[in-house]
Amino acid sequence: MAPAQASNSGVLVARSIKALRDAVDAWKANGQRVAFVPTMGALHRGHLSLVEYGNAAADRTVASIFVNPKQFAAHEDLSSYPRTEARDLELLATAGCDLAYVPEPAEMYPPGFQTSVSVAELSQGLCGTTRPHFFGGVATVVCKLLNQCRPDVAIFGEKDYQQLLVIRRMARDLDIDVEIAGAPIVREEDGLAMSSRNAYLAKDERAIAAKLNAVISTAAKRLAAGERVLSVLADGKAAIAAAGFSSIDYLEARSALDLTLLGPGPLDGKTPARVFVAVMIGRTRLIDNWPVG
Ligand code: PAF
Repeated sequence: MAPAQASNSGVLVARSIKALRDAVDAWKANGQRVAFVPTMGALHRGHLSLVEYGNAAADRTVASIFVNPKQFAAHEDLSSYPRTEARDLELLATAGCDLAYVPEPAEMYPPGFQTSVSVAELSQGLCGTTRPHFFGGVATVVCKLLNQCRPDVAIFGEKDYQQLLVIRRMARDLDIDVEIAGAPIVREEDGLAMSSRNAYLAKDERAIAAKLNAVISTAAKRLAAGERVLSVLADGKAAIAAAGFSSIDYLEARSALDLTLLGPGPLDGKTPARVFVAVMIGRTRLIDNWPVG
């Protein structure tokens, strides 16, 4: 297996578990702390903020690029998911990433692969309802990535908040010796949360998408002021429909600690809470969330 090699962008690239481990083990032997940012590529400023978080939290930062087939259902966008490796490597180099781990599917899932990881309760509800396969696929690949890289800290964006809690639970339950850190959502100037799937939006859809964050930030403000969850969410759903979204998957207030559903009355003011939303615009699914208070 080839060792990690410099790409045109200058960032080192490891394409095998062995090349990854050789590089990480050498850093650790020198007493260096290693941060890890798992991605599916099609990188944007949100991902780069995770790399910057890693650079601040550790001596070395590794980012993986792997479009994980196990987290896509048959009808979802696996084949059309944007793959932009050369550009991603340039962006990682600019962000100060030390190593890109870019395994082939056969390295990740060799013939005969048959193990899966599932986090029972946190994977239910929210995105788990319409994407029942999703968190099993994420937990399985992230478990493998953490075992392959063996970082000190791994960083995940809070935009995928349910994913962050699923991964944190998985690492704790399986005694994976890593800190799971959550990094704040990065937004476009008009407030749209950054996502690789924003690239799918047509111009008119993009204008509608920009209205989503105002709906959830308003809902969060009203909940913090003590209004009833039921009426705040009803108004939020009406605002989403009026803004021109094709459909609402969910708009809910939940505990930020364990995703327990909150309401229908006012929040207790003690449990940290978030407003969570998922909508469709045409064929594109967008998710976002906003802290209460
Ligand atoms: O958030 C993502 O990009 C993916 O779900 C992850 C964590 C890289 C696993 O494939």
